[in-house]
Amino acid sequence: MKALHCLSYGEPPELRVAEVAEPVPGPGEALIAVEAVGLGGFDAVLLGGRYQERPEPPFVPGRELAGRVLAVGEGGDPALVGARVAAISFTGAMAERAVARLAHCMATPPEMDAATAASILSAYATSLYALETCGRMAAGETVLVLGGAGTVGAAAIGIAKALGGRVVAAASSAEKLEACQGHGADHVVDYGDPDWRRVLTGMVGGGVDLVLDPVGGDLSEPAFRSLRPGGRHLVVGFASGTIPRIPLNLPLLKRASIVGVDWGGFMQRESEANQALLARLRALFDTGVLRPELPTVHPLGALGRLLEDFRARRSVGKPVIRLDFDA
Ligand SMILES: NC(=O)c1ccc[n+]([C@@H]2O[C@H](COP(=O)([O-])OP(=O)(O)OC[C@H]3O[C@@H](n4cnc5c(N)ncnc54)[C@H](OP(=O)(O)O)[C@@H]3O)[C@@H](O)[C@H]2O)c1
Repeated sequence: MKALHCLSYGEPPELRVAEVAEPVPGPGEALIAVEAVGLGGFDAVLLGGRYQERPEPPFVPGRELAGRVLAVGEGGDPALVGARVAAISFTGAMAERAVARLAHCMATPPEMDAATAASILSAYATSLYALETCGRMAAGETVLVLGGAGTVGAAAIGIAKALGGRVVAAASSAEKLEACQGHGADHVVDYGDPDWRRVLTGMVGGGVDLVLDPVGGDLSEPAFRSLRPGGRHLVVGFASGTIPRIPLNLPLLKRASIVGVDWGGFMQRESEANQALLARLRALFDTGVLRPELPTVHPLGALGRLLEDFRARRSVGKPVIRLDFDA
């Protein structure tokens, strides 16, 4: 079968289409005919060689996919063959066929096209896990979403609204703030403005209940300082490339918590709880409480440019690659 190979890490990485052996689904896994692959900041960081784990090249990149189940490994339900799924595989998605654990698949809502299905799982499941499971968010609470125009940020705005919250989205440009409003944010704040924390305080009075932070760097400390007593700062990622250090007197003085969010680890280690999370996510889509943002759809040849857009902080919304190796 055809697949994209990463031959070496870099900015840009060295990528080539190659003929590779078809993967074989092991126990509890599914073989999936891949139609579309979702991209996120993760892919840019991994292929740039900046992720904490570095698969040995050559390897097939791609973490988030949508397609049809062709076969299941030992212990898998044969009735799943033919089902349309969205799935997560750490690598391997940018190929005609890929393998994912059945526990990491969500049946695609019937009306949803493959590109949209490839765009929802990572960002929305991470955001639901962050806000509901880790942050114990309650209806009526105020959430500050950093990087609100990024793939996780955009989904987090939708999830926080679906959970009955008030959302302040923060981003770095007028175009991105407009995108945040399109995603449903109640208020927006430009953190390119050195005075952004004062602007935020003017909007939310006594502070915010939760911060959802996929960015890190210089933004995390002022965001933490904007919490109300009892607030929760959800550490999702470090898209800025810098892991911040927060003085521990701040959680003490604020009576506020810093909570780590690792949906990947949760998915691996708490399979049943993750299945319940995915069922809850699916119900939010099915009932129309959550409406997925439509992704932008691109051919495989656009991958290099899309990775560079993430790296240069130009990306807005969720890009998806429609896989067609013969195009
Ligand atoms: N913990 C988990 O379970 C989990 C799951 C999925 C993803 N993640 C992580 O979450 C992070 C965000 O992922 P994403 O897909 O939302 O990324 P993304 O689409 O690139 O969004 C990240 C946002 O960060 C901001 N940013 C600030 N400085 C940046 C820089 N130097 N380079 C790039 N972006 C910068 C950008 O917004 P502004 O320009 O507006 O600042 C950008 O929109 C990544 O680190 C990813 O690995 C974690």
